[in-house]
Amino acid sequence: MGKDHDRENGNVEAMRTETLVIHGDDDRTNDYTVAPPIYYTATFRAQDSDEFAEMAGTPRHPQYYTRYGNPGHQRVEKIMAELEGTETALVTGSGMGAIATAVLSLVGAGDHVIAQTRHYMSTAKIMDELLPRFGVQVTLVEQADIHAFEQAIRPNTKLIMVETPANPTLVLTDLAAVAKLARSHGILTIADNTFASPINQRPHDWGIDMVVHSATKYLGGHHDLTAGVICTSHDLAERIWHTHISIGSVLSPMDGWLLLRGLRTLPLRMERINANALALATFLEQQPQIERVYYPGLPSHPQHELAKSQMRGFGAVIAFAVKGGYEETERFVSALQLPFNAVSLGGVDSLVVHTAAMWSGVMSEEQMKVAGIPANFVRFSVGIEHIDDLKSDIWKALQAI
Ligand SMILES: Cc1ncc(COP(=O)(O)O)c(C=O)c1O
Repeated sequence: MGKDHDRENGNVEAMRTETLVIHGDDDRTNDYTVAPPIYYTATFRAQDSDEFAEMAGTPRHPQYYTRYGNPGHQRVEKIMAELEGTETALVTGSGMGAIATAVLSLVGAGDHVIAQTRHYMSTAKIMDELLPRFGVQVTLVEQADIHAFEQAIRPNTKLIMVETPANPTLVLTDLAAVAKLARSHGILTIADNTFASPINQRPHDWGIDMVVHSATKYLGGHHDLTAGVICTSHDLAERIWHTHISIGSVLSPMDGWLLLRGLRTLPLRMERINANALALATFLEQQPQIERVYYPGLPSHPQHELAKSQMRGFGAVIAFAVKGGYEETERFVSALQLPFNAVSLGGVDSLVVHTAAMWSGVMSEEQMKVAGIPANFVRFSVGIEHIDDLKSDIWKALQAI
């Protein structure tokens, strides 16, 4: 009991990352299970009408109605806030649920938003199509150029949205520089940290106000759930939550439970993923059939110095160009035996996509050119398999070109 009492009163020494993903959500006073329970209920009962009034009137109450909150989700939120170094976190039904809800909570007609020329495709759609439909002006800037952000600022700029490393070309944004610029103009900032994970990069440490994730990726880690998370201050989380309950991007109790299970091994998985990906990127750079490798951990990456200063590891995703065109790239991807030919990233199993093939149905050739996606471009998300097996599979597929 002594230990539990200490923990409740916050007297326990600050936990290291590997410990906090296991114990950061402990609830030793109210439940006696070791594995967390799944609160598979849409609604929660009150003891009496006074308690009901209290539940109904408390923002983010974890036991009122699952669209408003859920005790299982609260456990995930506790760990995610600790991992990102923010006051709190809010889970959503998908990464896009997190991004759309955060953006739509903070801007309205007549406001101006600055975002990047390169974003995950659906985020780009919010900027290109959704916001302008509701009277919000948007300026897209080259993310590697901090002066472009500065020049884009207008008196009505409310929000700067960044994504680093950016999908799919792994270009970086200088988080500290953007945060400093935004704060000096009273502008809020959101960073999509999906490609890095909180183990490799903590945007809030550099002054970013809101950190969003597709938890479908590293945080879940097994390609079996869809979820999102917004890590931020109590004030902003409450503002976003009021919109969240109207938009309704709700995480299911089962996916919340799987996400909690995934988080337990996040530091372990990231250690292996970072090591595998760096080794594979180095290996790819040495192959004569490869034209160019893009990976922030390689000295050849144009922003390697920035990567080293704001990241602690460089993540799973390697982008590379195969010598030749569309056909050679298709032959290479088809010859791979280990990685699944599938979208997404950051899970235990390696995934590979021929980027031009993936986006040919939704983007014109011109749009692909602007987004920097040539026909011979491959995106590889490295899993936790043995590095020698991955290398040998890639080597054999390169011979098939
Ligand atoms: C960088 C980035 N942000 C957001 C998302 C959207 O996440 P979800 O698919 O969970 O909605 C993705 C999905 O691939 C992504 O890569």
